[in-house]
Amino acid sequence: MDYFAYKNNKLYCEDVDLQDIAMQYGTPCYVYSKKTLERHVDVYKKAFKSKDNLICFSVKSLSNISILEFINKKGCGFDVVSGGELKRVLHVGADPKKIIFSGVGKSYDEILLGIQNNILSFNIESEAEVYRIEEIASSKNKVVDIAIRFNPEVDSGGHEYIKTGRKGDKFGISSDDSVLKIANHIYQSKNLNLVGLACHIGSQILDLESYRLTAQNIKKLSINIKKIGHDLDFLDLGGGLGIPYENDKTPSPEELISIIEQELEDIDERIVLEPGRSISGNAGILLTTVEYIKENFLIVDAAMNDLLRPALYKAKHDVWNLKEMESIDQVWTIVGPVCESSDVIAREHSINANEGDVLAIKTAGAYGFVMSSNYNSRVRPAEVMVDGKTFNVIRSRESFNDLIKNEINLND
Ligand code: LLP
Repeated sequence: MDYFAYKNNKLYCEDVDLQDIAMQYGTPCYVYSKKTLERHVDVYKKAFKSKDNLICFSVKSLSNISILEFINKKGCGFDVVSGGELKRVLHVGADPKKIIFSGVGKSYDEILLGIQNNILSFNIESEAEVYRIEEIASSKNKVVDIAIRFNPEVDSGGHEYIKTGRKGDKFGISSDDSVLKIANHIYQSKNLNLVGLACHIGSQILDLESYRLTAQNIKKLSINIKKIGHDLDFLDLGGGLGIPYENDKTPSPEELISIIEQELEDIDERIVLEPGRSISGNAGILLTTVEYIKENFLIVDAAMNDLLRPALYKAKHDVWNLKEMESIDQVWTIVGPVCESSDVIAREHSINANEGDVLAIKTAGAYGFVMSSNYNSRVRPAEVMVDGKTFNVIRSRESFNDLIKNEINLND
């Protein structure tokens, strides 16, 4: 459910005519609906019936500080995967005790930053990482809270590049024996405290049975860990819930949480979830203008540097014309200006359009702007937030100076 809809044949975001945003800020331009974000956060929060829980928004999906601050005010915690993301959420006033730090390659400085800020947990992904955290904790005379991320051996379906929960994937710890060995080590350690068990099985997951299996596995392993003597605070089932990209039927957060609550009914730990896409995905669109029409191609001003998903994963995004058409009788391949054959936004897409029309690439809120780049020396697009009848820029379009500001001309 989102707040992008046609009214009087024009596409609106909440109460704003999207053509007005395109006129004022130009294209390509990301537009987010505050009401949609709010709705998705509320759905997650209200879906829990019984358990104490924590929703940690996955910052990697959409990380503009204006959006993070709003999500923080809604009471969510955050899942971060880098020092940069950690600094972003601290910058907007996040409660450190609601921050989870995931990721396979946390550097010394990133760990130190997390320790200095007393975050809720480092979700560790290897034995080597445990020793590194322990060493830093010991040198600073601290006791650090950590959770072990394991692989529940669940193949969640979806694109190969976004599966993470199978044995042998680069994330988490694959063998239960290794998990128990680490848990034993932590139990003996003066500087480490085991607070949770975590997993994240993938992204754009449409089959809730994968979550049921994951919940069963995490519960089983947590029982064995508690036998060592640990008293856990939470079980973290990660993010990954899929969303509709092309009118497909997808499971809701309520259905997901109901399955998790059923499976974890009799445990004492809090449940943590790390949703990204299912909160931010259809809260955003990317506006783009048709520059040229050639043969069966609509050549638009947004490209793979602005929205990488179609080029990287052959991901499909619906594309709408801001002007609603009575009937559609044209089929186009929509491409961007970047000099790569993979710079295709949509293939064989049914849409009526003329040169100069503005189109909305839908469901671009998650893994859209955050994966943008300056390839072909293209400046990153502007980001605009709509709130009811008003809209404000929350990141200006980059300029040529932004492109070269860190470059040093040795010939000067
Ligand atoms: N927690 C962890 C540890 C993760 O690695 C991720 C996503 C999430 C939570 C949030 O997952 P979500 O709810 O957003 O599915 N760039 C890809 C998606 C990569 C997902 C990476 N990890 C895409 O555009 O489809």
